[in-house]
Amino acid sequence: MSDQLIIFDTTLRDGEQSPGASMTRDEKLRIARQLERLKVDVIEAGFAASSNGDFECVQAIARAVRESTICSLSRANDRDISRSAEALKDAARARIHVFIATSALHMEKKLRMTPDQVFEQARQSVRFARNLVGDIEFSPEDGYRSDPDFLCRVIEEVIKEGATTINVPDTVGYAIPELYGNFILDLRQRIPNSDKAIWSVHCHNDLGMAVANSLAGVKIGGARQVECTINGLGERAGNCSLEEIVMAVKTRRDYFGLDVNIATEHIVPASRMVSQTTGFVVQPNKAVVGANAFAHASGIHQDGVLKARDTYEIMRAEDVGWSANKIVLGKLSGRNAFKQRLQDLGVQLESETDINAAFLRFKDLADRKSDIFDEDILALVSEESVAH
Ligand code: KIV
Ligand code: ZN
Repeated sequence: MSDQLIIFDTTLRDGEQSPGASMTRDEKLRIARQLERLKVDVIEAGFAASSNGDFECVQAIARAVRESTICSLSRANDRDISRSAEALKDAARARIHVFIATSALHMEKKLRMTPDQVFEQARQSVRFARNLVGDIEFSPEDGYRSDPDFLCRVIEEVIKEGATTINVPDTVGYAIPELYGNFILDLRQRIPNSDKAIWSVHCHNDLGMAVANSLAGVKIGGARQVECTINGLGERAGNCSLEEIVMAVKTRRDYFGLDVNIATEHIVPASRMVSQTTGFVVQPNKAVVGANAFAHASGIHQDGVLKARDTYEIMRAEDVGWSANKIVLGKLSGRNAFKQRLQDLGVQLESETDINAAFLRFKDLADRKSDIFDEDILALVSEESVAH
């Protein structure tokens, strides 16, 4: 099995399905270019048949982006698939992503179709798509809540018809990591031609486990593609977050043993771009891209980090696109952090006694003021002792 993990970004499709996150064509194009800079393997650019606007977005991205595979989502019908193929015509590498729901609940209540009808539609649509584009992904929507016997039947058939990637969505974020991982493994073991396709995970975050479930799908289930979005953007509680899954696999390579192509230093700029474009604020304590992800406020931590960064940092801020880690000066800070900040500001005090006196004034101020800025520090130290 390959030791490469394919990163499939769906910020522009599933991410945009987040209420209030719709983007213009130019905004999507800008984000797609940033995703290409990130070296995302596959960009799901939209759902070409859903509107003329989305068709144009997919088409524009397919023309502009040359390094990533460009994908368009399609329901399992000829019209959707033809629209996707047309929008992707000029792509350097194109993928059509065909989906149809397979859970009893969705088939009966939403599609009003029998399992046999769904089976037949999945088969025919993948055959139709395969005649237009070589790279076909198939998703049984609500796959995780589907009957595994039925799922095996459908997946075996679509692989026979030429699907090259099989994606198993946890559409409503209902999965638990170990169960989801074993669900994928079970399908792979039971389907005789399963090794003819790359297996993919697509997890929603309704119970806050999208990243954990995706990682289990990879580790236990053997999936080699993860579908994710920048900042975890997506319907309801969102999708698996790209920055978290990528940095988990990279930071714990000892455990996962997998490579990812992502140019991680572009992660923070991508996160900011998506946040500014959609107006969705990134929470300060968000892993990897939150403002506090590499900030140290307590004296003990600051002292440790100043002596050796890996005392309290498992990743380097610079590796994900921050300019540096952040020592936040406040009432919990110690003398070492204060002294380091004086040095960074070009402040040279005459003696250790002067530093101690300034440190006491700083602690006094920090008790009264929650945010201490560099200007406050400069004001603390006497004019004549500042050497620029
Ligand atoms: O969550 C989901 O089931 C989807 C599919 C269309 C892949 O987004
Ligand atoms: Zn989804």
